[in-house]
Amino acid sequence: MPVITHIEDLRVLAKKRVPRMFYDYADSGSWTESTYRANEQDFQAIKLRQRVAVDMEGRSTATTMVGVPVAMPVAIAPTGLTGMQHADGEILAARAAERFGIPFTLSTMSICSIEDVAAHTQAPFWFQLYVMRDRDFIERLIDRAKAAGCGALVLTLDLQILGQRHKDLKNGLSAPPKLTLPNLLNLATKPRWCLGMLGTRRRGFGNIVGHVRGVADMSSLGAWTAQQFDPRLNWKDVEWIKKRWGGKLILKGIQDVEDARLAVASGADALIVSNHGGRQLDGAESSIRALPAIAAEVGSRIEVHMDGGIRSGQDVLKAVALGARGTYIGRAFLYGLGAMGEAGVTKALEIIHKELDLTMAFCGRKRVAELGTDILLPGSFPT
Ligand code: GLV
Repeated sequence: MPVITHIEDLRVLAKKRVPRMFYDYADSGSWTESTYRANEQDFQAIKLRQRVAVDMEGRSTATTMVGVPVAMPVAIAPTGLTGMQHADGEILAARAAERFGIPFTLSTMSICSIEDVAAHTQAPFWFQLYVMRDRDFIERLIDRAKAAGCGALVLTLDLQILGQRHKDLKNGLSAPPKLTLPNLLNLATKPRWCLGMLGTRRRGFGNIVGHVRGVADMSSLGAWTAQQFDPRLNWKDVEWIKKRWGGKLILKGIQDVEDARLAVASGADALIVSNHGGRQLDGAESSIRALPAIAAEVGSRIEVHMDGGIRSGQDVLKAVALGARGTYIGRAFLYGLGAMGEAGVTKALEIIHKELDLTMAFCGRKRVAELGTDILLPGSFPT
């Protein structure tokens, strides 16, 4: 077993252990992947100010996100097909998040269902909603999330249509994988993954199968989801969803200051500056570059969160310094999950936490509330 010291080690291990179609699904962006790459690269360009001889004892990374105490300003992002990176993936990741003291967000397109995750966790997790044409189904989903005690609804606004991801098309992505010869040959090299999948009943989209009339098997599900994402989604729907939900609402996928103002007007509790991990509009600005203008415009009226490109605690620190109240990790936890299941997600969180804590110390800061642009090197960060 290699010594794991940073997220990249988990990515390398996940690539070995997860079937290619699911590894590729996580580790890719749309079209040329320029936004996907920019999300990470733009973090690298931001430089930190090293401070010395500052008392660093008694540091804390704790803060809150939408009023929820968190051990660090990080939540687990909603990611589709998480239970295909590792058997029972959503339950394992939710448990790791709970033990660490940060929120876990379950995707509508998860493998384990809302009820299943609720049955295996104590802390309220958050639920991410995709708006589908079938509004009865959406109402029932919202009600199911309420009944499961979910602590916040994360409404995704940037996936009314799906960004084209070349690898998924070429790999013939499906859950579970179709037993074609190339897939079988690839699965034969992933014995741990196969054993895990043989040991679980959770292999389809748990929130959907059995909850929509006419969707009983994988082929009917594939057809249903392909035509279900609702291209008509608009701010009136946000109003309706907010009312139906009645709890904390987080709007995900804001990249533009004008949309950020509309998010404030909607009465949501938080927005997430996000380009969907570079998986939707290729050519969009990186999230970390989009963040400062949005935080400056609306940060006093709504909590501003961000995701996209976070692979270390240093990235978390930079995002917070540029105005994010909290951040989300997607691929960083998926790599841990694919590499080592629950222990891998815990490892990813420990790595990020340690990097954040040490970097705060090097920058001469003891509290998350003390992180501002004055810890960044002038001229190196977006404004
Ligand atoms: C879904 O959220 C995806 O990006 O595939």
